[in-house]
Amino acid sequence: MIETGIRRLPLTRVALGALVLAALVSLEPARSARAQQPETVCIHCHGGLPERLGAPVSLWRQSIHAQSGISCNSCHGGDPKNAAMAMNPARGFIGVPKEPDIPAFCGRCHPGVLKDYLASAHGQALGSGGPTCITCHGTHDIVKASLDLINEKSCTRCHSFDRAKAIRDAMQQTEGYIVGIERRIAEFQEIGVDTDRLGKSLFAVRNRFHTLFHDVNVERVKAESTQINAELARLDRDLKVIEEERAKRKVVGGVVIFGALLLAALFHMMKKTYED
Ligand code: HEC
Ligand code: HEC
Ligand code: HEC
Ligand code: HEC
Ligand code: HEC
Repeated sequence: MIETGIRRLPLTRVALGALVLAALVSLEPARSARAQQPETVCIHCHGGLPERLGAPVSLWRQSIHAQSGISCNSCHGGDPKNAAMAMNPARGFIGVPKEPDIPAFCGRCHPGVLKDYLASAHGQALGSGGPTCITCHGTHDIVKASLDLINEKSCTRCHSFDRAKAIRDAMQQTEGYIVGIERRIAEFQEIGVDTDRLGKSLFAVRNRFHTLFHDVNVERVKAESTQINAELARLDRDLKVIEEERAKRKVVGGVVIFGALLLAALFHMMKKTYED
């Protein structure tokens, strides 16, 4: 009796442990998904509304904002936990911004971009035919920005494409260099080469490069791209040095192995001569 009791105890513990573990494992994906997109009352109610009131929900789910935990109330304000008070201005609801207020609305979280935009020809034309952030990026379906946003269809809504194209061409060349160097650094990192310094330099150059666009200043983009290309050429040289050193080491390694094999063969022959 006592014996079985003692034996049962660890068994029960093991079973309990396994159950808790299974529960944790099954909860984990659900929990992390919810941490990214908590189901607020805004999403719940608007998800069931028609047309212009419901459409934002499915568009937003695909956006970089949803991926980054920026929800309806992060932009529009309001109380995401209380359905009755959700859109009450007393709970911080600011509703839909009027067109001239959109840059400041987005710029709360993108202050560097806002500053460049306001100083640009586009910002100067805000309210008199200039584009706002959502003209180029969209509203609820905003994705990671890229040079693809500079295209004939989008940019010729208001003027010719030539200046836009000059900016795109200058930036595309630099973007190509950046992507190429990024790939080579990643390859070295995979085989355990110390690329810390190179990685940091590239990170700084890339960040600087991606602050160029909103100025929409063709001359500045050209001048700074040239400077950035020179910095990238330096990184390219540093990578070539590593590549050459590795190639040399391979040759030396090959020579050493060949020499060792040769010695072994000689030794074997000598041994045979003695034995005979
Ligand atoms: C119980 C349902 C319900 C909840 C909860 C709710 N909304 Fe609404 N929302 C509506 C309806 C209905 C309208 C359209 C009528 C109106 O403007 O009051 C609307 C309108 C809006 C508009 C457009 C207003 C305009 O001027 O065109 C925005 C933006 C908005 N809601 C955001 C939110 C946000 C953010 C939350 C959460 C903090 C939220 N809503 C919670 C039902 C809801
Ligand atoms: C990144 C900021 C941002 C987020 C996140 C966001 N919105 Fe909006 N929303 C805006 C802006 C800006 C406008 C105004 C668009 C315009 O003027 O065309 C707007 C407009 C709206 C409108 C009015 C649409 C119309 O056509 O009249 C509704 C309704 C709305 N949002 C609901 C939501 C809901 C619900 C969510 C969450 C699923 C959400 N928004 C998330 C920025 C945001
Ligand atoms: C409450 C804060 C907040 C507001 C308001 C907001 N954003 Fe964002 N936005 C973020 C965060 C966080 C990210 C993801 C991290 C990042 O890339 O900066 C992001 C990412 C982006 C990106 C992609 C950046 C990239 O790296 O490619 C764009 C474009 C963007 N937002 C545009 C807008 C526009 C346009 C508006 C206004 C309609 C807006 N945002 C309003 C917080 C915000
Ligand atoms: C004329 C079109 C246009 C307008 C207006 C515009 N953007 Fe952009 N935005 C772009 C393009 C193109 C890029 C990509 C640039 C690049 O790849 O370096 C970009 C990049 C971004 C990024 C990513 C920057 C990074 O560091 O990678 C953010 C965030 C952003 N825009 C937010 C905004 C906000 C906020 C506004 C309004 C204040 C705005 N944009 C206005 C076209 C525009
Ligand atoms: C909603 C209208 C509108 C859209 C869309 C638009 N622009 Fe503009 N753009 C303007 C206005 C207005 C000006 C100022 C007057 C002028 O120089 O034509 C301007 C000026 C410019 C200039 C000249 C800046 C200077 O300092 O001389 C460039 C470059 C430019 N835009 C690039 C772009 C690019 C790239 C796109 C597409 C991603 C774009 N624009 C989309 C309205 C727009």
